[in-house]
Amino acid sequence: MPKTMTQPQPIAALAPMDGVTDRAYRQIVRRLNPKVWLYSEFTSVNGIEHSSKVKDRVRFQEQEKPLIVQLFGREPKLFAKIAQEIALLNPSGIDINFGCPAKRIVRAGNGAALLQEAELAFRIVEATVQATSIPVSVKTRLGWFNSENLVSFAQGLESAGAGRLTLHGRTAKQGYRGVADWEPIYALKERVRLPIFGNGDLASYDQGLKKLKNLDGFMIGRAAIGDPWVFWPEAEREKVTLKEKIEVMIQHFQLLRQDLSEARALIEFRKHLGGYIKGFQDAKSMRQQLMQAQTEQEFTEQATLLA
Ligand SMILES: Cc1cc2nc3c(=O)[nH]c(=O)nc-3n(C[C@H](O)[C@H](O)[C@H](O)COP(=O)(O)O)c2cc1C
Repeated sequence: MPKTMTQPQPIAALAPMDGVTDRAYRQIVRRLNPKVWLYSEFTSVNGIEHSSKVKDRVRFQEQEKPLIVQLFGREPKLFAKIAQEIALLNPSGIDINFGCPAKRIVRAGNGAALLQEAELAFRIVEATVQATSIPVSVKTRLGWFNSENLVSFAQGLESAGAGRLTLHGRTAKQGYRGVADWEPIYALKERVRLPIFGNGDLASYDQGLKKLKNLDGFMIGRAAIGDPWVFWPEAEREKVTLKEKIEVMIQHFQLLRQDLSEARALIEFRKHLGGYIKGFQDAKSMRQQLMQAQTEQEFTEQATLLA
């Protein structure tokens, strides 16, 4: 069993990431970090309504809690219906995505598109809150073009019953360009009663603590890919050996295999490979070797040899 680390407050959370924070990876993050809040990948309410495969994405293990299921869509009634279904699984919360700027999401009027349809966003939150007793939160960006409407948007979400807000410190139009600006997030906190989590460009837990200031928690996204130790204080993180990393990596792969075919798991796992071996001597050739594995056995054998 890997070592675990119990963090004091404030709350540190694994950011929801489509294609990354699946059940397998969430379980790995949980094994190493009993207190970190986990978020599912965002999942379409329409998808859940119409496809059992999509519905399967929101399943989770009890030990993943605190686990928050993230949803996206644009129909208040459907949010209410799906929230009731999800409530039966009893997650720690439901989070609504009003921040994804990806073209295919925004074109369909979902994610960050709701930043431009504030009244509809409020109705979605209201409908979801009324449908269940599970806490409902929102994750969004500073705004569409700029942060001009951030305070009024947040106040509207608060009035609609949202229990927490996570802000990625970029606008939707910005995508991932520039650096995340946390100043509007700190300023927002002074204008609402809602707990606020900050997000954007954090490379480590220690950096999260430094950036926290008046906020209630922080979320780490990209830096957590292939690095479930990112939530450990730097001094502890530095002590993790290649052997420990490879052990956890193999466990992660095995969990992924519970949900995916061998071929699919090998492909999906590539996202995490670089993260696991980053910083070690010969990381590049190790990564190349593991990328070429054609079977689970080959992958496990090669990984074990590296350790
Ligand atoms: C591959 C990937 C998938 C993402 N999927 C989601 C998602 O499903 N829901 C969401 O709210 N944000 C999603 N995001 C955004 C992250 O949650 C986070 O807000 C963003 O990456 C900024 O944080 P970071 O700088 O720590 O990565 C995704 C980001 C990445 C890189």
